[in-house]
Amino acid sequence: MYQETYQMYREAVEAYLQKLFLSDAPYHELQEAMRYSLLAGGKRIRPVLTLAFAALFGGDWHTALPLGCALELIHTYSLIHDDLPCMDDDDLRRGKPTCHKVYGETMAVLAGDALQPEAFALAAAAPGLTDSQRVDAVGVLARACGADGMVAGQVLDIQGLDRTEEELRLLHGLKTGALMEGAAELGCIAAGAGERERAAARTYAGNLGLAFQIRDDVLDLVADEAELGKPVGSDQAAGKRTFVDLMGLPACNQLVEAYTAAAREAVAPWPGNEFLTALADTLAERKK
Ligand code: IPE
Ligand code: IPE
Ligand code: MG
Ligand code: MG
Ligand code: MG
Repeated sequence: MYQETYQMYREAVEAYLQKLFLSDAPYHELQEAMRYSLLAGGKRIRPVLTLAFAALFGGDWHTALPLGCALELIHTYSLIHDDLPCMDDDDLRRGKPTCHKVYGETMAVLAGDALQPEAFALAAAAPGLTDSQRVDAVGVLARACGADGMVAGQVLDIQGLDRTEEELRLLHGLKTGALMEGAAELGCIAAGAGERERAAARTYAGNLGLAFQIRDDVLDLVADEAELGKPVGSDQAAGKRTFVDLMGLPACNQLVEAYTAAAREAVAPWPGNEFLTALADTLAERKK
């Protein structure tokens, strides 16, 4: 059941994204670069979170689709910029050459730039929501990726300083947790959920984000590159400080388990939480 539901959500996301940026304007190379990265076969975890929280709290998940896809646009922009030579300098993403390898650095910067406002446009025009829900969604998107969100995490990340466990938790919570929390909260907005539900969604997604990034750091060391779809050993090559350096692999695996358990616990009071519980468990053991 879990896999069927994930598949159903993922197909809806793919179909929605496929229809974007098809312009044949004189600057269509920009749209091509945006679509190249957007449609390269990401796991779509963040929009799936949006749809799953909309469903959990009694909404119609179809209404949440533009909001979840808006967040996926932001996520894709963050990956395009994350791979640039001035950041992680990686050549492989989602099993394909990175955006700047195919379109050049300038176009990759611009493709990322354009994906951001397009995300806000999707949320601002999302059908079937009230204006107040749309404004709420735009604010959540902005906070998730803004100067105290994902970008702040990227700043701490590129500084490459030695970090305590608490500092690393902040770094991971911002660079990865913030977008996950935003994704979950967007689902709550689409469902018209109350503050108690939204707080639970944030707690779930914040913990999921921490587990997810620690697993990402572990995979950077132990994964198979072909299966992972991005370079292995990239963190060490770029002088990154990760939980793996700080505490070693076994402790990281334990931390992933602990954050996953905390995520599960956050949604435990709500009937129909099985999908989100299974999602957390599956991500803790992912190989890609
Ligand atoms: C990669 O995210 C960036 C991190 C936060 C580790 P994903 O692992 O969700 O990447 P895609 O979207 O599936 O490619
Ligand atoms: C997360 O960190 C990146 C973003 C917030 C975009 P990483 O740099 O570890 O992500 P990967 O490993 O390149 O996907
Ligand atoms: Mg990075
Ligand atoms: Mg990277
Ligand atoms: Mg990584």
